[in-house]
Amino acid sequence: MLILGIETSCDETGVALYDSERGLLADALFSQTDMHADYGGVVPELASRDHVQKLLPLCDEVLDRAVCTRSDITGIAYTAGPGLVGALMVGGSVAHALGLALDIPVLGVHHMEGHLLAPMLEDNPPGFPFVALLVSGGHTQLVKVSGIGEYELLGESVDDAAGEAFDKAAKMLGLDYPGGPRVAALAEQGREGVYRFPRPMTDRPGLEFSFSGLKTYTLNTVTAEQAADNWTEQTRADIALAFESAVVDTLVIKCRRALEAADCDRLVMAGGVSANRRLRAALETMAGKQGASVFYARPEFCTDNGAMIAYAGCQRLLAGQRDGDRIVAKPRWPM
Ligand code: KG4
Ligand code: ZN
Repeated sequence: MLILGIETSCDETGVALYDSERGLLADALFSQTDMHADYGGVVPELASRDHVQKLLPLCDEVLDRAVCTRSDITGIAYTAGPGLVGALMVGGSVAHALGLALDIPVLGVHHMEGHLLAPMLEDNPPGFPFVALLVSGGHTQLVKVSGIGEYELLGESVDDAAGEAFDKAAKMLGLDYPGGPRVAALAEQGREGVYRFPRPMTDRPGLEFSFSGLKTYTLNTVTAEQAADNWTEQTRADIALAFESAVVDTLVIKCRRALEAADCDRLVMAGGVSANRRLRAALETMAGKQGASVFYARPEFCTDNGAMIAYAGCQRLLAGQRDGDRIVAKPRWPM
């Protein structure tokens, strides 16, 4: 099958062509982050309008790059949720309209399943079963994956997602949206050991996460340093490093526990925060000690993209799944 994958759940328009025999043929992405940066976060209405403008040109671009025409496509996968409802509707509408015109099957797929399976697009994909750490702007979850669609939730955040915490900490440090990569860059100049931030919920058993206390701790530290007239570039970098280290340590501790609990020796990390270099290095070190292997997608497939949707959709379309005539858009959708 030749699958056109469409991702429009938030602020990236992603399109890709995945062939079940030949693998990924082409992918293209337009990121709206510059547009939303002026507002400090994603403005849903602006996101939808921009997807409308970018989606069809991006579809033509991937077809050109793969030296294919629309009539070569044999199935379409789009992100049906979770995400911003207007943005999801754009992808769903284009997918269903094209599917109707070309008389081919169309399927709405789960955005987080896309993230979860993104490492499958790499040269050395993980075999089943594996434990997946899903860390994005909206999710922090540990999932045992025994096969496509066989997902067991092991633990998740009871409040903020890790990416959301990064974005909020960035704001406190005067950095633009999206904050994760900017906090990570600022942390490069930070000095170890100046601050010691808490590692939430690591002092008790379990695989749940909580990041809202860490956010408050960060805010209190920022406020205290500003009041003490100690708000220098170095202070900001030291806080960025302390914050990043706390998130990374917390995620690593829970991943180690999850590998043990699931009796697995494969760990997959996926979602935007999995692009974080310090997190990757720390998970590799932990896994090495446990005799486990770590798998992740290339950085551009850790954040939102069309390739992961094309891949996930292809597996399900091959299994015979497809939408009825209705567009599926589920802003909230547990996996
Ligand atoms: O998966 P994603 O692109 O979108 C969602 O589905 O949410 O994840 C975006 C999140 C944002 O919160 C962003 O700040 C975070 O991933 N992020 C990072 C890094 N790159 C992206 N967080 C920490 N370090 C990074 N290098
Ligand atoms: Zn995502």
